[in-house]
Amino acid sequence: MNLTEKFDRYPLTFGTTPIEYLPRLTQACGGRVEIYAKRDDCNSGLAMGGNKLRKLEYIVPDALASGADTLVSIGGVQSNHTRMVAATAAKIGMKCRLVQESWVPHDDAVYDRVGNILLTRLMGADSRIVDDGFDIGIRKSWQDAMESVRAGGGIPYGIPAGASVHKFGGLGYVAFADEVRAQEAELGFQFDYVVVCVVTGSTQAGMIVGFKADGRAHRVIGIDASGTLGKTRKQVTEIARNTAELIELGVEITDDDIYINPDYAYPAYGVPSNETNEAIRLAARTEAMITDPVYEGKSMQGMIDLIRKRHFPDGSKILYSHLGGAPALNGYSDIYRNG
Ligand SMILES: Cc1ncc(COP(=O)(O)O)c(C=O)c1O
Repeated sequence: MNLTEKFDRYPLTFGTTPIEYLPRLTQACGGRVEIYAKRDDCNSGLAMGGNKLRKLEYIVPDALASGADTLVSIGGVQSNHTRMVAATAAKIGMKCRLVQESWVPHDDAVYDRVGNILLTRLMGADSRIVDDGFDIGIRKSWQDAMESVRAGGGIPYGIPAGASVHKFGGLGYVAFADEVRAQEAELGFQFDYVVVCVVTGSTQAGMIVGFKADGRAHRVIGIDASGTLGKTRKQVTEIARNTAELIELGVEITDDDIYINPDYAYPAYGVPSNETNEAIRLAARTEAMITDPVYEGKSMQGMIDLIRKRHFPDGSKILYSHLGGAPALNGYSDIYRNG
């Protein structure tokens, strides 16, 4: 699909991320399907990396061209996204103003001191915690933050939650599909399914558009971690359709292209179930692959459960997209104090 001819990309990542076979996790799940991981969690030297950097690579040129001096964004207290916006601002020499909403009912004493928010503060971002609850949409607190930057004589550039509802938010993961296709050509086989965690939507939406090109959009298995399925599905659909139009895909994204499984988001966004924690432990103990209680632990749980329920035909090759997020584990030290 070669996006590079049409869209500017500001490099924030190392480039192509590795795909690795996970033999011990494969065996632990019964050995009937093969599990691989695409390691977007190791995609950059910027503050531990993760999926947002792929998206931000296509947003930064627009931010630079706008003449702004401050990136303004929003997320939860332990947001990976705001960590990545703070990293990007530091790297490109802009200021950063962040709204960190109270999206998760948390008990851990140091929840607002460690992990993502610690790194965010360390990189010099002006990060302010507000009381508002979880919502993936456009938020008043974010619009107010832009206003306050203006009032202080600055020029804000707004990046919504998860860098999702932004005209270029879906492009990074369209490029991901191109990258996987090139790696498949080298590996000599195609993946039958791609598993991905979904919350604000542009990661899965980009993949849907990218894999639509070779008829595999519905093989992108979204595992919802938002607990607000209706909103997430609507947002994924809109982003996928807008992105398809933007890149002139030439085919329409239909409802059948969008698969989102809501069964693993319980009990709530940011709160891991016992089964999520067991999945996190299994990936850690078989492959030393670290997943987090908010996002990747839930998609790991979903993948393992669907494999055990024989949702995927025997012999399938499954690509687990590891999108990052491990720093948040520090905010859940009480749960994992004994492993
Ligand atoms: C580690 C991690 N995984 C998955 C997601 C979900 O991606 P998206 O918000 O694009 O749906 C996010 C961000 O929300 C994330 O930080």
